[in-house]
Order: sequence, then structure tokens, then C-alpha cells
Amino acid sequence: MRARLVAGNWKMHGSRQANAGLLDALVAGLGKGGAQAARCAVCVPFPYLEQVAARLAGSSIAWGAQNLSEHAAGAYTGEVSGAMLAEFGCRYVIVGHSERRQLFGESDARVAAKFAAARANGLTPILCIGETLEAREAGRTEAVVAAQLEAIVATAGAEAMRNAVLAYEPVWAIGTGRTASAEQAQEVHAFLRGRLAQRDASVAQALPILYGGSVKAANAAALFAMPDVDGGLIGGASLVAEEFLAIVAAA
Ligand code: PGA
Repeated sequence: MRARLVAGNWKMHGSRQANAGLLDALVAGLGKGGAQAARCAVCVPFPYLEQVAARLAGSSIAWGAQNLSEHAAGAYTGEVSGAMLAEFGCRYVIVGHSERRQLFGESDARVAAKFAAARANGLTPILCIGETLEAREAGRTEAVVAAQLEAIVATAGAEAMRNAVLAYEPVWAIGTGRTASAEQAQEVHAFLRGRLAQRDASVAQALPILYGGSVKAANAAALFAMPDVDGGLIGGASLVAEEFLAIVAAA
């Protein structure tokens, strides 16, 4: 059976005080080191990594960041390297989130370079891909997500996906309250796994593919019941302990 993962994406939310309450509630809810059918992680803003590492050490919850530089070190004011994230115990890093692509102009090539930087530092990249509403309505969903996946696989090789996580996040479903139906998610996930299988069947079979976009406790079980939906990348609902815990339970 494939590994399942529920990862929270806090985006630019939090405060030391709010984080403390949320993290303590998650640890209490999941139990210290208890055997979890679904792995669970939180991806937090950089300044909170030290706090999160301290609070989650010894728990069954992993942590990570939401972005990293494609460069190893140097004169890149404001950037954070993969090696720095590794120093703070990050297991995961989100790469290519649609907000990075749309608001910060990250190209496929840059996302591929960040993906490589994550792997070079022993981090598991959570690679995000997804189509806009315009692309979906024009019937271009498969073409768009295939091109986004191909941009990574063409440079890194299919083998590079062996220690990665893929997240299908339709842009029209992120933060909009409008979730893809379980069937819509399954259709794209199966398509993506099939595409990758053309290059490497064993990597495709083992790859966790998460769905993201307005996942809540109320719709998580239906999404996660689909054969190719291996968990979720959770934005808004990851900031509310009871919601996030219920989503982890659904996985
Ligand atoms: P959402 O965000 O759950 O708030 O829609 C998901 C994401 O952007 O990762």
C-alpha cells in the first residue's frame, strides 16, 4: 500500500502564541509517537521553524517549509536555502505552489530547480501542480498538469519522484470553498499516475498523490476514499486543530 500523507500549509498565518496552542492540540490529538496510518506534517512560515521543531520533537508529526531557494548559498537577499531548512529538522518542503507560480512569477524551470535543491538537501519535495479555472473550462486540464509534471521529470528524471510527493491542487479550488469532487480529483490523479507510469511504473505506483483545494473535515473522507487520492494538502483547515485532526483521521 502507498504511503498516505496529510500536510498542513499554514501559508502566511500564525503567531508564536497561536502556533503554540495549535501545535499542542495536534500533539495531544495524535498522541506521542502513536502508530499513524496516515503520516502528518505541517508546513509553516520560516521564522516559526524553530518553535515548531521544539514543540513537535518526539511527536508523530513532521514539519516543513513552504518554499526554498534554488541556490545553495550566496548573495540572494531574502532567500532561504534547503540546507538551512534541513538544519531545522524539516522533512518536507512545498515546491511550486500555485501562489508562488502566480504571485511570485515562478516558472516551471525555477520550480524544477527548487525541486532539485530540495532533494539535494535530503528534503522531500511536495510538488504542487494544477490548472486554472480558465484552463479547465477550455478542456485543457490534462495538458496543463502533464506539462507541469513533465517540466520536473524531464530535468530530474522519473526516478527523482521516488522520494517526492505530488499534490494536485486545482487553482480554482484553493481557498475558494469550491472543492473538486472526489471523481474530478480521482480522474486527474489517475491521469498523472498513468503519465508517470509511462516512464517508470514502479515509481508511479509508489508515489503519494495528494489532493489540495478547500479540503475540510466534511469532504475529506470522500476524497480520500478514491483509489489514487493518497491524502491531502490542507490550507485553511490546517489552522483549526479539530478540523485538521478530523482530516488526518479520515486519511
Ligand atoms: P485551501 O488551500 O485548503 O485553503 O484551499 C490549499 C493549499 O493552497 O495548499
